[in-house]
Amino acid sequence: MSLLYAIALNCVFVTSQIMAEENGVVSYAGFQVWKIKPSSEGDQQFILDIIDSYELELWSKRRMARDPMDVKVPPQSQTKLKSKLAERKISYVVVISDLQTAIDNQKTKVNRIISNWKPAYDMGWISYHTLNDIYAFLTYLNTTYPKLVQLTNIGSSYEKRPLYVLRISDSSSAGTRPAIWIDGGIHAREWISPAVATYIIQQLVEVPANAKLLSNVDWYIMPVVNPDGYEYTHTKDRMWRKTRSVSNTSSCRGADPNRNFGYKEVIANKFKPPSLFQMMQWGGLGASTNPCDDTYRGTIAFSEPETLAT
Ligand SMILES: *[C@@H]1O[C@H](CO)[C@@H](O)[C@H](O)[C@H]1NC(C)=O
Ligand SMILES: *[C@@H]1O[C@H](CO)[C@@H](O)[C@H](O)[C@H]1NC(C)=O
Repeated sequence: MSLLYAIALNCVFVTSQIMAEENGVVSYAGFQVWKIKPSSEGDQQFILDIIDSYELELWSKRRMARDPMDVKVPPQSQTKLKSKLAERKISYVVVISDLQTAIDNQKTKVNRIISNWKPAYDMGWISYHTLNDIYAFLTYLNTTYPKLVQLTNIGSSYEKRPLYVLRISDSSSAGTRPAIWIDGGIHAREWISPAVATYIIQQLVEVPANAKLLSNVDWYIMPVVNPDGYEYTHTKDRMWRKTRSVSNTSSCRGADPNRNFGYKEVIANKFKPPSLFQMMQWGGLGASTNPCDDTYRGTIAFSEPETLAT
């Protein structure tokens, strides 16, 4: 594929944490998510400065100084964070009182399909789905609508799962028209993203009223760029973000796929402001060199088979 970049705007800067593991399944029992309300830039910086030492993880995108900050707080930091915030008179509310309970509640909804919805495939868009369901859906479409869709395997993930791209085109000369590229699931734990990408696919392929959206362009949609990571979030660690490649130098696995792409000046120069193309250089803004970080860039550009294939 010649499609080089998916600009995944993602500003979660995090450090890795050691968590209790049971049968290889990571537990978030006792973890909480707090919405902290800084009332000045100073307050905001105060919180940013203690993120590492308190093993916090910032879940919200930082915009204005006084925007609330959603922060994942491990059990061992809750008491000291509470007094630290009280000292500085920064208020907060606990929005998730037990992260594992929230994950368990979400799991019971995976794959639950409403009773009067009986499509030919095991997919719906009121709950999240496993990789198997998503891949079965793509295969079903490929078989059922041969004139409209073409499912291509563009390569294999680190753990040898197929990397599927679905082309949707009503043209007999598909591939010659302008194209729209959509990808999802580059960060394993962001489940909404494959859900949206598959929903767009369903709407384009199966809803006749949307046929006009196919009239001038070909669509290329890759709903799960990081299938190993996505599967891992369903089976082992709901908060996993990276690929699952094994490192030669560290016991920590995976690279952050959207920080693993190489840099092509020709393309990057088209982007304004320059800060945006800086983010797209390998090793650019916000990319970590520590294999244990969730923002780890990988050993070299395109070290991950998922980014290389894409
Ligand atoms: C999609 O269908 C075409 C035509 O039947 C087939 O050649 C191709 O292998 C299918 N793609 C996948 C990934 O199964
Ligand atoms: C790890 O080492 C093997 C064997 O030397 C090499 O093929 C592979 O590319 C290395 N992987 C990384 C991520 O550097």
